[in-house]
Amino acid sequence: MKIGVISADIASESRVAITPDAVKKLRKLGFEVVIQSGAGQAAYYADELYQAAGADIASSSAEVITQSQIITTVNDLPAEAIESLTSGQIVIGMLDPYRNTQLDTYATKGVTAFAMELLPRTLSRAQNMDVLSSQANLAGYKAVLLAANEYSRPFPMFMTSAGTVKPAKVVILGVGVAGLQAIATAKRLGAVVEASDLRPTAREQVESLGGKWLDVPMSAEEAETAKSTGGYAWTPSEQYVKDQAAVVDKALSNADIVITTAQIPGRNAPRLVHGATLAKMKAGSVLIDMAAGTGGNVEGSVPNETITTDNGVRIVGAANIPSMLAAQSSDLYANNLVNFITTLIAPASDDASASDASANLALKLDMEDEIQGALAVTHDSQVRLAKR
Ligand code: NAI
Repeated sequence: MKIGVISADIASESRVAITPDAVKKLRKLGFEVVIQSGAGQAAYYADELYQAAGADIASSSAEVITQSQIITTVNDLPAEAIESLTSGQIVIGMLDPYRNTQLDTYATKGVTAFAMELLPRTLSRAQNMDVLSSQANLAGYKAVLLAANEYSRPFPMFMTSAGTVKPAKVVILGVGVAGLQAIATAKRLGAVVEASDLRPTAREQVESLGGKWLDVPMSAEEAETAKSTGGYAWTPSEQYVKDQAAVVDKALSNADIVITTAQIPGRNAPRLVHGATLAKMKAGSVLIDMAAGTGGNVEGSVPNETITTDNGVRIVGAANIPSMLAAQSSDLYANNLVNFITTLIAPASDDASASDASANLALKLDMEDEIQGALAVTHDSQVRLAKR
């Protein structure tokens, strides 16, 4: 059985779905692998490394698709690639399911498409397939470095003969996987960190990393809802949003760096920083909006652009930070994919030798399986994505 690797077709994407190391793991499982020439180049994985790992190289995406039963990708496939898919093929990638306008085409083609973002995250056996976590963790780290690079002062406190340099004040809004890593990284660089999230359970995590919790008052009813959502974001009331804006306004008036990470799967990102607050911020302060690609947490942020406001505040619209760490993010993403692919096959029989393992591979598609069932957005010619 062959696994194909398609090159990302957007200029802002440097990651690759399968790395040479992952090729070795897949071959050990009994798969053959074919990769579109140059697919790993931007992540510093040249075709020769794939060949050395045992993959075939194909000159076009069409050639990869013709040969493969399972097609792997970082983002959604381009329309012409989907057109060349045939019934029974499997596509695995970060398909951005709730904004994907091509699901009907996948379904009509009879393709089973798995959107990795839909993984049930609290399921312990699925944790090694969690692409949101693997990518967000790296993005949280890199966001702090981007901020440090944009900021015209250092992060740590320095005592010098020319004077004392104060540590940077960093505020992190949204402390899921990316936010927690951002806190840890900013602390390592010597900053003073404050953070907030609408999940009250995040408080303990913030404090254990040495950050100060920015508390937004919550009604008893909201506290109950927050508990019952199993750790995921809940829909805040108008009063909460108002109180949160006041807390954010006060914290940001004193901040040097702000990193916003709040996203809501299937919906636009919540607006956490408004123009009135930006107007009160110090000249030279920097905001990194990690939700810029899904509507933006910061008013005025533009994906992949840095805006400077009239009062000298810089807003970085960071739409795809994992791609800036393409080598490492591809390694982790590829590991996530290999772990998921492992669940799609029935194991080769015990007495099969390595050389005939491929012949023993059989697909084990099972929509009753809690991982496969959650990830499959099309199967059996149907779109299976629940509306949000
Ligand atoms: P995300 O990227 O969807 O959002 C980042 C953070 O923003 C979240 O903590 C969210 O609560 C917060 N947020 C959303 N709307 C907000 C608003 N209006 N105001 C303030 N904060 C807001 O989150 P991520 O990193 O994907 O994590 C989502 C949840 O999944 C978290 O509870 C996390 O702990 C949990 N998780 C659990 C795992 C597990 O149990 N194995 C693995 C990974 C994540």
